[in-house]
Amino acid sequence: MTFLPENQTVEFESGKLHYSDHGKRESLLDVALNSGVDLEHACGGSCACTTCHVIVLEGENNLSEPDDDELDRLEMAAGLTLRSRLGCQAIVKGDVKVEKPAWSRNYISEGGKSTL
Ligand code: FES
Repeated sequence: MTFLPENQTVEFESGKLHYSDHGKRESLLDVALNSGVDLEHACGGSCACTTCHVIVLEGENNLSEPDDDELDRLEMAAGLTLRSRLGCQAIVKGDVKVEKPAWSRNYISEGGKSTL
């Protein structure tokens, strides 16, 4: 899977990741944290914030279907698109390419200080 804008591509073998209890097992967030990819996760992956919001550019069918909790939470996400997902809820089943929204990238580059 690939994370933009850094264009970081990571691979993992299902069932072999160290699970640190951040989001659903083998979710985008779980894979990112296991691979050294910066992906915000203010609520620890419990579907209670929107900081792990990503936009799926390719491979949408290689992610689990969003459940009602994720869809409800996503409605509060800044910059929501039809291809938005919560990184902690979307379980990876194959190749995907996702992009972090611009506001999230600013948040990270400001060292966690909101610029909104
Ligand atoms: S980390 Fe809070 S909803 Fe995903």
